This record gives sequence, structure tokens and C-alpha cells, in this order.
Amino acid sequence: MTIRDSAKAFLHSLPPSLQGPARWAGDWLRYPPGSSERRKIDWVRRVYTPYGRQQRVSIMLDIARFATINRPIEGYYFEFGSHEANTMRMAWDAFHHLYGWHFVAFDSFEGLPDISAIDRQAIWGKGRLKTAEESFLTICHRHGIARDRLTTVKGFYDDTLTPELKRSFQPKKAAVVYVDCDLYKSTVPVLDFIKDFLQPGTIIVFDDWNCFYGDPERGERRAWAEFLSANPELRFEPFVSTGMQMSFIHLGPSIEEEGAGA
Ligand SMILES: C[S@@+](CC[C@H](N)C(=O)[O-])C[C@H]1O[C@@H](n2cnc3c(N)ncnc32)[C@H](O)[C@@H]1O
Repeated sequence: MTIRDSAKAFLHSLPPSLQGPARWAGDWLRYPPGSSERRKIDWVRRVYTPYGRQQRVSIMLDIARFATINRPIEGYYFEFGSHEANTMRMAWDAFHHLYGWHFVAFDSFEGLPDISAIDRQAIWGKGRLKTAEESFLTICHRHGIARDRLTTVKGFYDDTLTPELKRSFQPKKAAVVYVDCDLYKSTVPVLDFIKDFLQPGTIIVFDDWNCFYGDPERGERRAWAEFLSANPELRFEPFVSTGMQMSFIHLGPSIEEEGAGA
């Protein structure tokens, strides 16, 4: 375990009310008062991080409204890339009262995999964004997420997202698929896996839509474009978006396919 991992584990072992002050104390010791680094961190804590949080919360609430108005949409909240359970906690707050959804976190719990040439960008690196499974579960437990409504699937997607795993989750469908695994190489197996869980009204959110400068030839955008061209029978409509995220509604069969035309 690196010093960074130990510091993180210590932070996660504290009650939530002490974690914020502990972070502040750590920064206070590391960076001199008045330094540009201290000012930057202060801005990140006061402005930038809460804004990103607010964007994600608003997506979750838009989905909750959508699912309530178009009821009943039942099934799983699938999250690919769970890290420190930031989005999982938001999802629980927004959705746990809706139709008994079950929450599933798919993550290596070892951080990012090897970074392939197509996914190279300064912010990504093998092992970054690691939260151990036990720490993830502790964070969820402290937040009040019911253990019997939460499943974790540990491992890299190329190994874990097998037909057997798929069968173990069927026949239930997905109400929401939250894709937050950053990389093109990680998103390809995710989309392949979730295809059989789509139902009319499933919402797919891409948390990193505008990573790689919004380049459609890279990242989640590229994986999505390939998925659409490989599955032309599937129908989607854009749902809500922010500066970083994009989401889509999976539609049911068209009226013509259903033979319900006037
Ligand atoms: C940006 S973090 C997710 C943040 C999380 N949603 C949160 O709000 O705390 C990306 C996560 O994706 C996971 N990940 C990326 N590629 C993966 C892969 N191929 N297999 C398994 N996990 C992967 C990493 O372990 C990391 O935890």
C-alpha cells in the first residue's frame, strides 16, 4: 500500500462529518498560507467541486422525474466506475424510494487499467482513481445505502463482464446505466454488456462525454458511435446534458414495428 492509499484509507475510516475538516487540515499543513496552491485548493473546494456535484445531482433528479412520470420503470441502477461512491450516493438519494431499484457498482477497485494509446491524456494513469472495495462499501454503508440493495462486481471489465455474469443479473432490466469509467477501452465492453438490459425508458448517462476535448473519435463518444453503428435496430433520443455529461433515453420499438400505426 502506498502512502497515498494509506492516507485515503484513513480518511475514509473517519466519520463523514470529520472528513471535510481532515482534508482542510491536510492542506493547511502541506501548503503555506497565501500561496497560490492554497488559493487554488480553496477555490476548488468552495466553487469547482460543488458545481460538478450540483450538475450530477441535477441529472439524477431529472432521471427521477422521468422515471416517476413514465412509471413504472423498474430494474437496476448500473454504475460502471464507482471509485469513492460520489455518484452512487447521489443515485441512492435520488432513486432509492423508486420501485425498489437495485444498485450495482462495477469497478476494478484497483483504479484505472493500463492506458492504451487511444486513451492517452495527462489526467489518466494506470492505478489512478483507486478506491478499495471495502472502503467503497464503508462509504455506502455510512451513507445509509441498504446492503441488500447494493451489489459490487469487482474486477476489470474485460474479465468480469462475461455472459455468465449477464445471466446472473437477468431477466431484470436496467432503469439507469451510469457510465463513469473515463476511457474508450473501458466503455466498449460496458456497452456490449448492457445491451441486453435495455428496456423502453432506460437512461444511459456518459459522465465523461467531453473528456478528450469532446473529440468524437475518442473516449466514451467513440465507443457510443461504434455501438450505435453495430446496433442500428436500437433507438435512442438525447436526454439531459451538461458541460461534461451527456445522456440518452432508450426507446421501445417504433409504432410501425409494433403495428400500432393509425
Ligand atoms: C472517475 S472514477 C469514477 C467516479 C465515481 N463515479 C464517483 O463518483 O466516485 C473511474 C472509475 O472507473 C474504474 N474503471 C475504469 N476503467 C475500468 C475497467 N476497465 N474495469 C474496471 N473498472 C474501471 C476505475 O477503477 C475508477 O474507479
